[in-house]
Amino acid sequence: MKNILITGGAGYIGSHTAVQLVEAGFNPIIIDDLSNSDEKVLDRLEEILGKRLTFYKGDCSDRNLLDQIADKHDISGVIHFAAFKAVGESTVQPLKYYQNNLGSLLTILDFMRAKQIKDLVFSSSCTVYGQPEILPVTEETPRQDAESPYGNTKKICEDILMDFVKSQAGIRVISLRYFNPVGAHPSAKIGELPIGTPANLVPFVTQTAAGIREKLTVFGDDYDTMDGSCVRDFIHVMDLADAHVKALAYLGEQKDDFYDVFNVGTGNGNTVLEVIRTFEKVNRVKVNFKIGARRPGDIVKIWADTAKINSVLNWQPSYSLEDSLRDSWNWQKTL
Ligand SMILES: NC(=O)c1ccc[n+]([C@@H]2O[C@H](COP(=O)([O-])OP(=O)(O)OC[C@H]3O[C@@H](n4cnc5c(N)ncnc54)[C@H](O)[C@@H]3O)[C@@H](O)[C@H]2O)c1
Repeated sequence: MKNILITGGAGYIGSHTAVQLVEAGFNPIIIDDLSNSDEKVLDRLEEILGKRLTFYKGDCSDRNLLDQIADKHDISGVIHFAAFKAVGESTVQPLKYYQNNLGSLLTILDFMRAKQIKDLVFSSSCTVYGQPEILPVTEETPRQDAESPYGNTKKICEDILMDFVKSQAGIRVISLRYFNPVGAHPSAKIGELPIGTPANLVPFVTQTAAGIREKLTVFGDDYDTMDGSCVRDFIHVMDLADAHVKALAYLGEQKDDFYDVFNVGTGNGNTVLEVIRTFEKVNRVKVNFKIGARRPGDIVKIWADTAKINSVLNWQPSYSLEDSLRDSWNWQKTL
């Protein structure tokens, strides 16, 4: 059984990916400093999987700790989720973001080279496309100046990976550009755990429906879109997790010094208002919301062209928006 080191594996996408990896016959080993997650995730993963996953509490920029892990386990690949991800906070504390998001990647790459670990899947984001002129965006769509320090860390990380692969370091890398992950494990035992005020739409919707937040603000309803609100490509976290398993399998078939990028979305755009209405319909609950002013820096519309990941990785999403919003609500009820 191949050991895969998952940095940030106690987090939202990492924990769901751990489940899918076990189901695909891999042995995930999690390292997480719990800066944005809770150790209880490990108990919940055990309930889902019927076995305890190996977990190291610590910073993945801690090279000594990584070396200790590699001494104990023969690691064949890494999925690097660990990062700070709050766009708003990154504009106020940019150094915190550059330090963690770039620093952790540099440490992981140096560690991989030293230990001759070949395969890496990196969490990138559709934020690298900025405000796209042509939709849907393909992997060939030019990246644009980032709208935030967070977005810039993803762009720089992609550049670091490309340069590292070009240097013939002997590694094979895939950057997955996630669109908007939503939903939760269908068991409702794990899901997104926003600490403080949620920065993403769906946790805000579920918390408002649960009465934790009084009202949700929709930022603008006068954009050039179907109903005037912003458009995103909402991808169920289980489908996203599955893309990592497919990416790892594909990396295993490549020659050394390989780098590629894939969009991971559904290929469909949905507006913010559509999400709220669909959530209300599927779950039969009301969401108290109001229309507010446009928010500076918001991307008006973006959705993925998924032809590349569909054909090359043989990956297709299997959950609908309705499924995502039902699972998000069930997870909120667990919380
Ligand atoms: N959720 C999204 O909307 C989204 C969209 C695009 C890309 N991404 C990227 O996907 C990755 C995972 O996102 P997520 O939504 O699961 O976030 P998350 O915050 O739930 O998970 C990240 C995990 O990494 C841990 N962590 C952070 N820095 C660490 C460090 N230095 N060492 C060890 N652990 C550390 C946190 O404690 C957390 O458990 C991130 O890189 C994020 O930027 C997320």
